[in-house]
Amino acid sequence: AELRRFRFVVKEASYKRLCEEKRILTVNGKFPGPTLKVHRGETIVVDVFNRGKYNITIHWHGVRQPRNPWTDGPEYITQCPIQPGSSFSQKVIFSKEEGTLWWHAHSGWFRTTVHGAIIIYPKPGAPYPFTNPHADVPIILGEWWKEDIVKIRQDFLESGGQPRDSDAYTINGQPGDLYPCSKQSMLKLEVKHGQTYLLRIINAALNEILFFGVAKHSLTVVGADACYTKPFTTPYIAIAPGQTMDCLLNADQQPDRYYMAARAYLSGAGVDFDHTTTTAMVHYADPYWPSPSPDMPKLPDFNDTSAALNCSYSIRSLNSQWHSVLVPKVITERIFTTISVNTLPCPANETCEGPDGRRLAASLNNISFVTPHIDVLEAYFYQISGVFGQRFPSFPPTVFNYTADGLPVELQIPRKGTQARVLRFNSNIEMVFQGTNLVAGIDHPMHLHGFSFYVVGWGFGNFDAQKDPLNYNLDDPQLRNTIIVPKNGWAAIRFKADNPGVWFMHCHFERHMTWGMETVFIVRSGRGPTQRVLPPPPDMPPC
Ligand code: C2O
Ligand code: CU
Repeated sequence: AELRRFRFVVKEASYKRLCEEKRILTVNGKFPGPTLKVHRGETIVVDVFNRGKYNITIHWHGVRQPRNPWTDGPEYITQCPIQPGSSFSQKVIFSKEEGTLWWHAHSGWFRTTVHGAIIIYPKPGAPYPFTNPHADVPIILGEWWKEDIVKIRQDFLESGGQPRDSDAYTINGQPGDLYPCSKQSMLKLEVKHGQTYLLRIINAALNEILFFGVAKHSLTVVGADACYTKPFTTPYIAIAPGQTMDCLLNADQQPDRYYMAARAYLSGAGVDFDHTTTTAMVHYADPYWPSPSPDMPKLPDFNDTSAALNCSYSIRSLNSQWHSVLVPKVITERIFTTISVNTLPCPANETCEGPDGRRLAASLNNISFVTPHIDVLEAYFYQISGVFGQRFPSFPPTVFNYTADGLPVELQIPRKGTQARVLRFNSNIEMVFQGTNLVAGIDHPMHLHGFSFYVVGWGFGNFDAQKDPLNYNLDDPQLRNTIIVPKNGWAAIRFKADNPGVWFMHCHFERHMTWGMETVFIVRSGRGPTQRVLPPPPDMPPC
């Protein structure tokens, strides 16, 4: 059959928020961008036209793209950018994903406004593993800056310090009525008493994990990162940039108006924060006398680490029988990876706003990733040397107390490099992410392209290679593409390297990624004809 095609025209459009009009980059003039609706197992083609003035790439976050890294999208990792005036037809291959994902620009900080939902329905005729919802509601949590995002990023790079905070958080692009000039345009979700709504919640914010809830209503989490979960009912969720959560909302309260709201959870030390909150409204369509002031959801405090982590780590895969078979049991390779925010010396004749007048940086295993000028995939495929190295290390887990103060100097100052890690086809990989206490201990949403991984364990403090694996959950661990690694703690994930290609792995906090908190996995092809990377498309953007 013919593949369905979608048209994405990247172009500027004017939007008014917080009383001011501004030009932003969009897809098809929409903000948030268009929702892609597909069925499980479908392959589609998105024709991306760049009619803006900047280089751009588009990424399908959480789509495994079996054997097809070519159209995955991260700039200078799997492709060179689509230049203004050019286009790229991107095949998007859905396989086992079902639920909600999203797409976003993977170039500069353009994902701030260039993003949208992906809804993956069950195969035609197949049911949901829960009561059929009355309606689907994408809820995209994001951020708005009054200033141009190119300028915001530029200033951030020049200052060597932290980026400026956004001027508002948003729900479906709207700040909500706690912000000036935002009352009329606030999202209003109409519900009918007794009906159930599937909220497809996406965190598209650049730099913050968010709490989200609806006043007086509970949420039943039924999916996360396009994998179904055991139903889990909670007054609020915590969701990190990159993550998606499917939640059932039962309109089972007294008909009235109720706020839904999102608020930042800030795990870093020493942040002082004004509880900036973005709102939207749930309206019952049934007749009622509205109460004078609608209720607000009770969300945890901005520094409530245990609320955030308990929520994230309460999630379990549905269908344990299936997953307990698929979780890799015998590990071929364990890669132990420290995650650090660091500082580098301030270049002469510059002033840097980092701690002690230094420049902030970030690293995995003490390597601060340098983005190459030819993408790693093409360099690998065409054997172009000098673009990347294959020496991304694995640190010994127990040599240092990574979460204590005063780590040795060699762990404080990262080295710069473009180092990838080569994995054998079909090897079973365990990755242990270890947070460190350098500069500021903070949670990190770590994201892997090309795979979903099982989250088998987590804890505070140092990972203990002897004891901690004994407590792993190998029965019904959650299957994610992005996981929150706790501040001053660790998380362990497992996956089978059965998807040959070049796959980016990075912190989904935009500032951390810009500082170098990333690496690349190169999964070698297997011998069989269906175990090899597919041939490149003819219209790969030139480098
Ligand atoms: Cu949501 Cu590398 O991406
Ligand atoms: Cu991070």
